[in-house]
Amino acid sequence: MPLVTSKELLQAALEGHFAVGAFNANNMEQIQGIIDAAVEEQSPVILQVSQGAIDYAGLSYASTMVKVAAQEANVPVVLHLDHGSSFEQNVICLRAGFTSLMFDGSKLPYEDNVRITKQIVEMCTPVGIPVEAELGKVLQSRDNVSEDEVRAAMTDPDQARQFVEETGISSLAVAVGSVHAMTSADAELDIERMKALREKVDIPMVLHGSSGAREDSIVEAIQYGVCKINVATQLNMAFVGAIKQASVDMPDNVDPRKWLSLGRDALKEVVRHKMRTFGSSGQATSSGFASPAKSFRTAELGHLE
Ligand code: G3H
Ligand code: ZN
Repeated sequence: MPLVTSKELLQAALEGHFAVGAFNANNMEQIQGIIDAAVEEQSPVILQVSQGAIDYAGLSYASTMVKVAAQEANVPVVLHLDHGSSFEQNVICLRAGFTSLMFDGSKLPYEDNVRITKQIVEMCTPVGIPVEAELGKVLQSRDNVSEDEVRAAMTDPDQARQFVEETGISSLAVAVGSVHAMTSADAELDIERMKALREKVDIPMVLHGSSGAREDSIVEAIQYGVCKINVATQLNMAFVGAIKQASVDMPDNVDPRKWLSLGRDALKEVVRHKMRTFGSSGQATSSGFASPAKSFRTAELGHLE
Protein backbone atom coordinates (compact mmCIF):
# COMPACT_ATOMS: atom_id res chain seq x y z
CA MET A 1 0.00 0.00 0.00
CA PRO A 2 1.41 3.47 -0.74
CA LEU A 3 2.25 5.68 2.22
CA VAL A 4 -0.59 7.65 3.80
CA THR A 5 -0.39 11.01 5.56
CA SER A 6 -0.90 11.23 9.31
CA LYS A 7 -3.77 13.69 8.92
CA GLU A 8 -6.66 11.30 8.38
CA LEU A 9 -5.11 8.64 10.59
CA LEU A 10 -4.96 10.93 13.60
CA GLN A 11 -8.39 12.39 12.89
CA ALA A 12 -9.84 8.87 12.87
CA ALA A 13 -7.99 8.15 16.11
CA LEU A 14 -9.38 11.31 17.71
CA GLU A 15 -12.91 10.38 16.74
CA GLY A 16 -12.46 6.71 17.67
CA HIS A 17 -10.69 7.35 21.02
CA PHE A 18 -7.61 5.36 20.18
CA ALA A 19 -4.02 6.33 19.45
CA VAL A 20 -1.64 5.39 16.66
CA GLY A 21 1.84 4.27 17.72
CA ALA A 22 4.72 6.23 16.20
CA PHE A 23 7.70 3.93 16.39
CA ASN A 24 11.30 5.04 15.86
CA ALA A 25 13.48 2.94 13.57
CA ASN A 26 17.14 3.18 12.62
CA ASN A 27 17.75 0.05 10.58
CA MET A 28 16.08 -2.54 8.38
CA GLU A 29 15.35 -5.07 11.12
CA GLN A 30 13.64 -2.48 13.30
CA ILE A 31 11.48 -1.34 10.37
CA GLN A 32 10.57 -4.95 9.58
CA GLY A 33 9.69 -5.72 13.20
CA ILE A 34 7.39 -2.69 13.39
CA ILE A 35 5.68 -3.43 10.07
CA ASP A 36 5.26 -7.13 10.85
CA ALA A 37 3.58 -6.19 14.13
CA ALA A 38 1.24 -3.76 12.34
CA VAL A 39 0.25 -6.39 9.78
CA GLU A 40 -0.35 -9.04 12.44
CA GLU A 41 -2.38 -6.61 14.53
CA GLN A 42 -4.08 -5.04 11.48
CA SER A 43 -3.15 -1.67 12.93
CA PRO A 44 -2.31 1.61 11.20
CA VAL A 45 1.26 2.60 12.04
CA ILE A 46 3.59 5.60 11.96
CA LEU A 47 7.22 4.83 11.27
CA GLN A 48 9.31 7.73 12.36
CA VAL A 49 12.82 8.73 11.50
CA SER A 50 14.69 11.04 13.84
CA GLN A 51 17.59 13.35 13.10
CA GLY A 52 19.80 10.71 14.73
CA ALA A 53 18.42 7.99 12.45
CA ILE A 54 19.07 10.21 9.42
CA ASP A 55 22.66 10.75 10.56
CA TYR A 56 23.07 7.02 11.18
CA ALA A 57 21.44 5.43 8.12
CA GLY A 58 21.38 8.34 5.65
CA LEU A 59 18.13 9.99 4.58
CA SER A 60 17.84 8.03 1.37
CA TYR A 61 18.27 4.63 3.03
CA ALA A 62 15.99 5.50 5.93
CA SER A 63 13.14 6.85 3.80
CA THR A 64 13.41 4.26 1.03
CA MET A 65 13.36 1.33 3.46
CA VAL A 66 10.14 2.63 5.01
CA LYS A 67 8.56 3.13 1.58
CA VAL A 68 9.44 -0.44 0.57
CA ALA A 69 8.06 -1.77 3.85
CA ALA A 70 4.82 0.20 3.37
CA GLN A 71 4.45 -1.05 -0.19
CA GLU A 72 4.48 -4.64 1.01
CA ALA A 73 2.11 -4.07 3.94
CA ASN A 74 -1.70 -4.24 3.82
CA VAL A 75 -2.12 -1.61 6.53
CA PRO A 76 -1.79 2.20 6.38
CA VAL A 77 1.80 3.34 7.00
CA VAL A 78 3.00 6.93 7.57
CA LEU A 79 6.61 8.07 7.10
CA HIS A 80 7.18 10.79 9.70
CA LEU A 81 10.09 13.11 10.52
CA ASP A 82 10.60 13.01 14.30
CA HIS A 83 11.92 16.14 16.06
CA GLY A 84 12.88 17.95 12.86
CA SER A 85 15.40 20.54 13.94
CA SER A 86 14.98 23.24 11.29
CA PHE A 87 12.97 24.61 8.38
CA GLU A 88 15.64 23.22 6.04
CA GLN A 89 15.39 19.69 7.46
CA ASN A 90 11.64 19.77 6.89
CA VAL A 91 12.11 20.92 3.27
CA ILE A 92 14.58 18.10 2.67
CA CYS A 93 12.22 15.49 4.12
CA LEU A 94 9.24 16.86 2.21
CA ARG A 95 11.25 16.42 -0.99
CA ALA A 96 12.26 12.93 0.10
CA GLY A 97 8.59 11.89 0.22
CA PHE A 98 7.83 12.02 3.94
CA THR A 99 4.06 12.04 4.51
CA SER A 100 4.16 13.72 7.92
CA LEU A 101 6.61 16.26 9.35
CA MET A 102 7.60 17.70 12.70
CA PHE A 103 9.33 20.87 13.71
CA ASP A 104 10.61 20.87 17.28
CA GLY A 105 11.01 24.48 18.31
CA SER A 106 10.50 23.72 22.00
CA LYS A 107 13.91 25.10 22.91
CA LEU A 108 13.21 28.40 21.13
CA PRO A 109 11.43 31.48 22.44
CA TYR A 110 7.67 31.24 21.79
CA GLU A 111 7.71 33.79 18.92
CA ASP A 112 10.49 31.96 17.05
CA ASN A 113 8.75 28.62 17.52
CA VAL A 114 5.56 30.12 16.03
CA ARG A 115 7.41 31.82 13.15
CA ILE A 116 9.32 28.77 11.91
CA THR A 117 6.45 26.34 12.51
CA LYS A 118 4.17 28.61 10.49
CA GLN A 119 6.65 28.77 7.60
CA ILE A 120 6.73 24.98 7.47
CA VAL A 121 2.94 24.70 7.61
CA GLU A 122 2.65 27.23 4.76
CA MET A 123 5.09 25.17 2.69
CA CYS A 124 3.31 21.86 3.38
CA THR A 125 -0.36 22.82 3.23
CA PRO A 126 -0.57 23.11 -0.60
CA VAL A 127 0.73 19.55 -0.98
CA GLY A 128 -1.40 18.11 1.81
CA ILE A 129 1.37 17.14 4.21
CA PRO A 130 0.52 17.60 7.91
CA VAL A 131 2.91 19.20 10.40
CA GLU A 132 3.38 18.42 14.10
CA ALA A 133 5.00 20.94 16.43
CA GLU A 134 5.90 20.98 20.12
CA LEU A 135 4.92 23.47 22.79
CA GLY A 136 6.22 23.13 26.31
CA LYS A 137 9.21 20.82 26.46
CA VAL A 138 9.50 17.05 26.86
CA LEU A 139 12.88 16.87 28.64
CA GLN A 140 15.65 14.28 28.31
CA SER A 141 16.35 11.80 31.11
CA ARG A 142 20.10 11.99 30.46
CA ASP A 143 19.92 15.55 31.87
CA ASN A 144 18.87 14.12 35.27
CA VAL A 145 15.80 16.31 35.45
CA SER A 146 13.95 16.90 38.71
CA GLU A 147 10.17 16.70 39.10
CA ASP A 148 10.05 20.49 39.45
CA GLU A 149 11.85 20.90 36.13
CA VAL A 150 9.44 18.49 34.42
CA ARG A 151 6.48 20.41 35.84
CA ALA A 152 7.91 23.79 34.83
CA ALA A 153 8.33 22.56 31.24
CA MET A 154 4.73 21.39 30.87
CA THR A 155 2.44 22.79 28.16
CA ASP A 156 0.19 25.67 29.16
CA PRO A 157 -3.36 25.06 27.83
CA ASP A 158 -4.13 28.72 26.99
CA GLN A 159 -0.81 29.16 25.21
CA ALA A 160 -1.47 25.87 23.38
CA ARG A 161 -4.74 27.20 21.97
CA GLN A 162 -2.98 30.36 20.80
CA PHE A 163 -0.10 28.34 19.27
CA VAL A 164 -2.48 26.09 17.32
CA GLU A 165 -4.40 29.11 16.00
CA GLU A 166 -1.27 31.05 15.05
CA THR A 167 0.55 28.20 13.30
CA GLY A 168 -2.17 26.11 11.64
CA ILE A 169 -0.47 22.84 12.66
CA SER A 170 -2.23 19.48 12.31
CA SER A 171 -1.08 17.96 15.61
CA LEU A 172 0.47 19.26 18.83
CA ALA A 173 3.17 17.55 20.89
CA VAL A 174 2.45 18.31 24.54
CA ALA A 175 4.54 18.04 27.69
CA VAL A 176 2.36 16.46 30.38
CA GLY A 177 4.84 14.63 32.61
CA SER A 178 6.77 12.25 30.39
CA VAL A 179 10.54 12.49 29.90
CA HIS A 180 12.45 11.17 26.89
CA ALA A 181 14.53 8.00 27.04
CA MET A 182 13.56 6.68 30.45
CA THR A 183 14.31 2.98 30.96
CA SER A 184 11.59 2.41 33.56
CA ALA A 185 7.92 3.12 32.92
CA ASP A 186 6.89 4.82 36.14
CA ALA A 187 6.11 8.45 35.29
CA GLU A 188 2.53 9.47 35.91
CA LEU A 189 1.01 11.80 33.33
CA ASP A 190 -0.82 14.94 34.45
CA ILE A 191 -4.33 13.93 33.43
CA GLU A 192 -5.91 17.13 34.76
CA ARG A 193 -3.66 19.07 32.40
CA MET A 194 -4.64 16.76 29.55
CA LYS A 195 -8.30 17.51 30.28
CA ALA A 196 -7.59 21.25 30.28
CA LEU A 197 -5.64 20.93 27.03
CA ARG A 198 -8.47 18.98 25.43
CA GLU A 199 -10.87 21.81 26.27
CA LYS A 200 -8.65 24.35 24.52
CA VAL A 201 -7.20 22.32 21.65
CA ASP A 202 -9.34 20.51 19.12
CA ILE A 203 -6.58 18.93 17.01
CA PRO A 204 -4.90 15.57 17.79
CA MET A 205 -2.23 15.71 20.49
CA VAL A 206 1.02 13.76 20.61
CA LEU A 207 2.72 12.09 23.57
CA HIS A 208 6.51 12.00 23.41
CA GLY A 209 8.71 10.01 25.78
CA SER A 210 6.11 7.30 26.25
CA SER A 211 8.65 4.63 27.25
CA GLY A 212 8.91 6.23 30.69
CA ALA A 213 5.17 6.69 31.27
CA ARG A 214 2.89 4.30 33.13
CA GLU A 215 0.61 2.46 30.74
CA ASP A 216 -2.56 3.10 32.73
CA SER A 217 -1.73 6.80 32.59
CA ILE A 218 -1.22 6.60 28.82
CA VAL A 219 -4.56 4.86 28.33
CA GLU A 220 -6.27 7.63 30.29
CA ALA A 221 -4.52 10.34 28.28
CA ILE A 222 -5.87 8.79 25.06
CA GLN A 223 -9.38 9.62 26.28
CA TYR A 224 -8.39 13.31 26.35
CA GLY A 225 -7.04 13.71 22.85
CA VAL A 226 -3.65 11.95 22.71
CA CYS A 227 -3.81 10.34 19.27
CA LYS A 228 -0.13 9.72 18.43
CA ILE A 229 2.23 8.05 20.87
CA ASN A 230 5.97 8.06 20.25
CA VAL A 231 7.90 4.99 21.34
CA ALA A 232 11.65 4.51 20.99
CA THR A 233 13.51 3.48 24.15
CA GLN A 234 11.39 0.43 24.96
CA LEU A 235 11.92 -0.82 21.39
CA ASN A 236 15.66 -0.29 21.66
CA MET A 237 15.77 -2.10 25.00
CA ALA A 238 13.96 -5.13 23.58
CA PHE A 239 16.09 -5.19 20.42
CA VAL A 240 19.44 -4.82 22.18
CA GLY A 241 18.38 -7.06 25.08
CA ALA A 242 17.67 -9.96 22.73
CA ILE A 243 21.00 -9.51 20.96
CA LYS A 244 22.91 -9.35 24.24
CA GLN A 245 21.24 -12.57 25.34
CA ALA A 246 22.01 -14.19 21.98
CA SER A 247 25.66 -13.27 22.32
CA VAL A 248 25.68 -15.21 25.60
CA ASP A 249 23.70 -18.15 24.18
CA MET A 250 25.67 -18.34 20.92
CA PRO A 251 29.13 -16.94 21.70
CA ASP A 252 30.71 -18.58 18.65
CA ASN A 253 28.15 -17.26 16.14
CA VAL A 254 29.55 -15.07 13.34
CA ASP A 255 26.35 -14.75 11.27
CA PRO A 256 24.76 -11.34 12.10
CA ARG A 257 21.37 -12.54 10.87
CA LYS A 258 21.11 -15.02 13.75
CA TRP A 259 21.38 -12.19 16.27
CA LEU A 260 19.57 -9.41 14.41
CA SER A 261 16.53 -11.58 13.68
CA LEU A 262 16.17 -12.23 17.42
CA GLY A 263 16.29 -8.48 18.02
CA ARG A 264 13.62 -8.02 15.35
CA ASP A 265 11.33 -10.64 16.94
CA ALA A 266 11.68 -9.14 20.42
CA LEU A 267 10.94 -5.64 19.15
CA LYS A 268 7.91 -6.90 17.23
CA GLU A 269 6.32 -8.29 20.40
CA VAL A 270 6.73 -4.94 22.18
CA VAL A 271 5.12 -3.13 19.24
CA ARG A 272 2.19 -5.59 19.21
CA HIS A 273 1.66 -5.00 22.91
CA LYS A 274 1.71 -1.22 22.40
CA MET A 275 -0.82 -1.41 19.56
CA ARG A 276 -3.23 -3.36 21.77
CA THR A 277 -2.68 -0.94 24.65
CA PHE A 278 -3.23 2.12 22.43
CA GLY A 279 -6.39 0.56 20.93
CA SER A 280 -5.14 0.71 17.33
CA SER A 281 -5.21 -3.08 16.78
CA GLY A 282 -7.89 -3.95 14.25
CA GLN A 283 -8.28 -0.31 13.13
CA ALA A 284 -6.42 -0.63 9.82
CA THR A 285 -9.51 -0.59 7.65
CA SER A 286 -12.15 0.81 9.92
CA SER A 287 -12.03 4.53 9.55
CA GLY A 288 -11.90 5.97 6.08
CA PHE A 289 -8.14 5.78 5.64
CA ALA A 290 -8.31 2.45 3.87
CA SER A 291 -7.73 4.13 0.50
CA PRO A 292 -4.49 5.98 1.12
CA ALA A 293 -3.45 6.78 -2.43
CA LYS A 294 -6.57 8.86 -2.90
CA SER A 295 -5.97 11.17 0.03
CA PHE A 296 -2.35 11.86 -0.86
CA ARG A 297 -2.85 12.32 -4.60
CA THR A 298 -5.99 14.37 -4.16
CA ALA A 299 -3.97 16.86 -2.20
CA GLU A 300 -1.40 17.05 -4.97
CA LEU A 301 -4.01 17.45 -7.70
CA GLY A 302 -5.75 20.11 -5.63
CA HIS A 303 -2.55 22.10 -5.77
CA LEU A 304 -2.27 21.78 -9.56
CA GLU A 305 -5.85 22.80 -10.35
O1 G3H B 1 10.30 11.21 19.66
C1 G3H B 1 10.47 10.09 20.15
C2 G3H B 1 10.01 9.77 21.46
O2 G3H B 1 9.39 10.78 22.10
C3 G3H B 1 10.32 8.50 22.11
O3 G3H B 1 10.50 8.60 23.50
O4 G3H B 1 12.38 7.01 23.80
O5 G3H B 1 11.04 7.79 25.69
O6 G3H B 1 10.04 6.25 24.05
P1 G3H B 1 11.02 7.35 24.31
ZN1 ZN C 1 10.16 12.78 21.27
